Amino acid sequence: MDPTATGPDLLRQLPPPLPADRIIALNQPKGDLHSTRTYEWNGWTFDVPPGVFLPGWTSRLIHERLLDGRIETRGLRYGAMGAGLGVEAVAAGARGAREIYAMDVHAESVAAAARHYARLVGERPGTAFLPAAGDLFEGLPADARLDVVTFNPPAVSRTVSADPDVVRNTCVGAPLLARFFAQLAERELLASDGAVYVIVSNTADLRTIVRDAQDRGFTPSVEYVRDWRDGVLTFLFKFQLTRGDLS
Ligand SMILES: C[S@@+](CC[C@H](N)C(=O)[O-])C[C@H]1O[C@@H](n2cnc3c(N)ncnc32)[C@H](O)[C@@H]1O
Repeated sequence: MDPTATGPDLLRQLPPPLPADRIIALNQPKGDLHSTRTYEWNGWTFDVPPGVFLPGWTSRLIHERLLDGRIETRGLRYGAMGAGLGVEAVAAGARGAREIYAMDVHAESVAAAARHYARLVGERPGTAFLPAAGDLFEGLPADARLDVVTFNPPAVSRTVSADPDVVRNTCVGAPLLARFFAQLAERELLASDGAVYVIVSNTADLRTIVRDAQDRGFTPSVEYVRDWRDGVLTFLFKFQLTRGDLS
């Protein structure tokens, strides 16, 4: 695929979802979600309470970029959507973001993110950690404005489990992304030169996700593609406002 493609050219090049049985086989839950686990990354140790998502390779594609500034948050207002354990918030804090909103529908995840931020980053002049539990952007103040947003969404297009916590973490599907872009647009949450990074694979309905974003006034581009050599292609998309009418 042409990594510089945008608009209809990009849409045409995106792969369709993998076959349903393959998606379900690839996303079989490990069975330990309701236990307390531990996660280590970059020399940091995170406690993973029951129900909180344990970061994987896809998560790390975002985490590494936040830490080294390929996704720059230094001095910026940053929204970690689906904050989970709080690794994005910690990486952005270490980088020196101005405001860090940790948003998640799962209150225990936001609490875990807040604990990890306090322990691993702590108070820093010029950096504020702002927990925002709720559905998507619901927990944000009405006048919030963001320069950078990241989201590793539960976008898998097939229901892989009857467990609501597995569904919340993994397979809510494309309609969640449609609401995500709708809220960003309707509430004018993104600064005019802001960027939204979403990481999704062909276990999700990529064309629907990207088309929904375009319909809400966002221009997509492909920041990075990872071919896992098992049929799974992971895309890191960058979305920017098509119309620069916000400040
Ligand atoms: C795949 S996990 C990613 C967690 C973490 N960002 C990471 O990459 O390790 C998806 C996260 O989205 C959250 N989530 C699901 N539905 C949501 C919603 N409607 N609003 C906000 N967060 C949601 C889940 O609770 C979960 O923490």
